[in-house]
Amino acid sequence: MAKQATKFICTSCGYESPKWYGRCPNCSNWNTFDEVSLTPVNGKKGKAAFSSDEKLLKLSDVKTTSRVRVSTRFEELDRVLGGGMIPGSVVLLSGDPGIGKSTLLLQVALHVSGVEKRNVLYISGEESGDQVRLRAERIIDPKTLDKHNLFILSSTNIDAITDLITKERPTLVIIDSIQTMQSETFSGFAGSLPQIRHATSSLVSVAKSQGIAMILVGHVTKEGIVAGPMLLSHMVDAVLYLEGDRLTGTRIVRAFKNRFGDTAEVGIFIMQERGMEQIQDASNFFLDKQSQNIPGSCASVILEGSRPIVIEVQALTVASTLPFPRRVVNGISDKRVELLLAVLQKHLCLPLDKLDVFVNIVGGLKIQEPSIDLAICLAVVSSFKNTPLSKTAAVAEVGLLGELRSVISLEKRASEARKFGYKRVLTFADFKNLSDIVKSVL
Ligand code: TYD
Ligand code: MG
Repeated sequence: MAKQATKFICTSCGYESPKWYGRCPNCSNWNTFDEVSLTPVNGKKGKAAFSSDEKLLKLSDVKTTSRVRVSTRFEELDRVLGGGMIPGSVVLLSGDPGIGKSTLLLQVALHVSGVEKRNVLYISGEESGDQVRLRAERIIDPKTLDKHNLFILSSTNIDAITDLITKERPTLVIIDSIQTMQSETFSGFAGSLPQIRHATSSLVSVAKSQGIAMILVGHVTKEGIVAGPMLLSHMVDAVLYLEGDRLTGTRIVRAFKNRFGDTAEVGIFIMQERGMEQIQDASNFFLDKQSQNIPGSCASVILEGSRPIVIEVQALTVASTLPFPRRVVNGISDKRVELLLAVLQKHLCLPLDKLDVFVNIVGGLKIQEPSIDLAICLAVVSSFKNTPLSKTAAVAEVGLLGELRSVISLEKRASEARKFGYKRVLTFADFKNLSDIVKSVL
């Protein structure tokens, strides 16, 4: 008897191979290969690559579907999506468990079904109908629930779900989550690569053919990647990440890929008792006005997408009793801080090797931009000298030689800082290296 044809697929990057590997030759992750059967279990034959009813169309004859975007209620989310959801497009929203994906999407569903009065289908494979209702009652007044055209289905059967969507044709469909969806025609448990791939491709084809806006929830695995990220991200139109600090409640939506918008935009939210609230006045939110005249604080302006945000960097230096002084860092990479401390030690002769150093970005933002280098250095020096930097914002990258470097959109950042009362904005334009700036301001 002929052996059943199988192949092996890396669950992390989607690399396919006829044989099993312990370590993926493509993405170098260990133990990620799953065996996948090439024939569907029920013996269904795949369609021929070209069926006879395919025909060519002139580009000008292609029908355009309505391009009216559906607003999600949150301007912060609409902006990341490129101006709202497009009918016929599929968005993957991913993030750590418990970060607030279901909450955010239920709020979107309630808005589209209540305020916009459109039919919305919320399909939950993780929660029962009454759990979803309880969550909804937390978010809006329970008495107004019957005014919403929001329909809930608690199911994981992807074939039944796609049939139902085709029949009902709602404006918006939310699938929570793609990892729980399963088809009997495919082998493998829910969440395995063939199942996820099949579920996503059936949903994408329904969304496209019926002109339905669809949002899929995807969990991030413990390695920090969406299961089968390459596979899912090329199948959908946009991939958004919801990330944040669980303790502070700050949540940020970023686009990793977007066919209909700019991936540089981010949306800022905070998780409240009654769901997510958007933060449009971000600078105001991330500034701690009280600490501006205390040693160890310096403001900076970062750029999130096209938006400048004023943030506060706090530093604390204290004499260490340890052979290896402590470096405790929150909100930026600790490697970056170590590097800046080494620059300070070398070029300003600060005895940082004898001091414990703590650095924190107020408000729970995670910052990757080097434009806050100077603010970190000044906050550390200010704490060390016990001298406050009054009303000062600093925007520049610091190099290994202690030189300052310019960053993009300086004027935009400086004017945002001035708007919040920072009369002195220190940049590459005024000083060329760290020791000059410290001599002059501290
Ligand atoms: P959830 O949306 O279930 O996360 P995910 O779908 O990403 O796994 O969010 C769960 C957390 O959010 C949970 O810890 C409770 C909290 N939460 C609030 O703080 N306020 C609220 O209004 C709701 C509904 C949840
Ligand atoms: Mg959830």
